[in-house]
Amino acid sequence: MKATDALKAEHRRILLFADVIEGLCDALERGDHPVPAQHLGWVLDFVAQYTDTVHHEKEEEVLFPRMKRAGLGPVDTLVASALEDHRTGREQVRNMHEALRWHQAGVAPAAAAFSRHARTYMYLLRHHIAVEDTVIFPKADEILSNAVQEDLAADCDALEEDRLDAGRREQLFFRLDKLAEVYAAARD
Ligand SMILES: [Fe+2]
Ligand SMILES: [Fe+2]
Repeated sequence: MKATDALKAEHRRILLFADVIEGLCDALERGDHPVPAQHLGWVLDFVAQYTDTVHHEKEEEVLFPRMKRAGLGPVDTLVASALEDHRTGREQVRNMHEALRWHQAGVAPAAAAFSRHARTYMYLLRHHIAVEDTVIFPKADEILSNAVQEDLAADCDALEEDRLDAGRREQLFFRLDKLAEVYAAARD
């Protein structure tokens, strides 16, 4: 499998996660249905342990550096801004963590703050993934041979094995599916 195909498959899961965030923010803002603090914690675990530590690091450490060596041309600017998105996203996640701490301490406006940062993060994720899927990854497919892409996919697998225990990954995906049943389904 090509590295870009594997990363696109990961995007589908991360987009489901964006739908979960949107539904969860709706619920927080309506306030008619209490959102368990545990669900906010699951959301942050998924970002910290999967999106940032596995998916984004595969792009930062494996795919993008190899693309740069092959010569990116004008897409170089888009890759630079994708890396900037990763940094901005991590800041939003820090803000969400902070808001969750206040929320757990019983500070009422903290739920609204969590929701505000989470929505900003959700919009960032959706736009970021659209740019990668429609411009950056097609450029990778153009400049990298299938053999190189398969080597990169193996490097991505090794990175994931190093960063995330298989049992933990299963738990994160299971929890994402549970959250999707509650928050993404409510949006249909
Ligand atoms: Fe990315
Ligand atoms: Fe990505």
